Amino acid sequence: MLKGRSLVEPGDFTLEEMDGLFNLAEKIEEDSSFLRESCRGKVLATLFFEPSTRTRLSFEAAMLRLGGSCLGFAEPGSSSAAKGESLADTVRTVACYADLIVMRNPKEGAALLASRYADVPVINAGDGGHHHPTQTLTDLLTIKRLRGKRKEGLRSTVQGLTVGFCGDLKFGRTVHSLAKTLARYENLNMVFISPGELKVPEYITTLLEQQNIPYREITGFEDAMPILDVLYMTRVQRERFFNEEDYIRLKDTYVLSPDKLERAKKDLIILHPLPRVNEIAIEVDTDPRAAYFKQAKYGMYIRMALISGILGVDHA
Ligand code: NCD
Repeated sequence: MLKGRSLVEPGDFTLEEMDGLFNLAEKIEEDSSFLRESCRGKVLATLFFEPSTRTRLSFEAAMLRLGGSCLGFAEPGSSSAAKGESLADTVRTVACYADLIVMRNPKEGAALLASRYADVPVINAGDGGHHHPTQTLTDLLTIKRLRGKRKEGLRSTVQGLTVGFCGDLKFGRTVHSLAKTLARYENLNMVFISPGELKVPEYITTLLEQQNIPYREITGFEDAMPILDVLYMTRVQRERFFNEEDYIRLKDTYVLSPDKLERAKKDLIILHPLPRVNEIAIEVDTDPRAAYFKQAKYGMYIRMALISGILGVDHA
């Protein structure tokens, strides 16, 4: 039962609970009319202290499609945070007005803190370079839809896959959440492709070692291309750099272009949480293996499933 629960980091839900969400999202994709008015009278608050397009709008679209309402801010400058209000006070207040809070904040740990102070469930929509669990649900639903069978658990879908992560693996929270979640399944491999300065944090590689998940850390993505089943591209996270020069030096390290895909598998799945800057050439968009815009669409279905689960909507 997800009713009344917060989602702060990917490990908060069991694999069975995640399978329940994927199944519900697949049903919603087919025909969501059975949930159309299910959240009537409920209010979702979106508190975004950092920029967002997909995450905030897909949450709001999801709530509106469930018949509920949304309030919130997309810019901290328009909230009392600009006057110096603490996060604890902001979320305690918003919890008086809303049934569910979705929050993005530049500070690692902000979502955990919010979940401790708010009287309503809190969903972490990104806390600094730490985690982004609903992007992970989106990524996994996309892999399941493109690779898996209806009603089959995700464990079977990801069996034997080699998943490559490329780009800013140090600051990219979507990478941290996805790698940590994939590590909960057995029998898969990971390849981390990044410049030395943007390597995946050690806590992730330690976790993989503990779970006996084979992984490699490399700097050139051409070498890995022929073995990958999933390629997860990410942008270099400019806002987390201490100086602009380092960002400029590293930002175009990897640019996925059609020639680089010549040696890739025919059924490779190319994912990107978006926004893309330069790391995928627009010519790749028409390649049938490019799945990042589908991924953005699945984000709304999984968030409809998640909201209805946390608000305790009857799916009967
Ligand atoms: C990601 C994020 O905010 O971490 N975007 C998203 O939610 N889809 C990735 C990014 O900003 O690079």
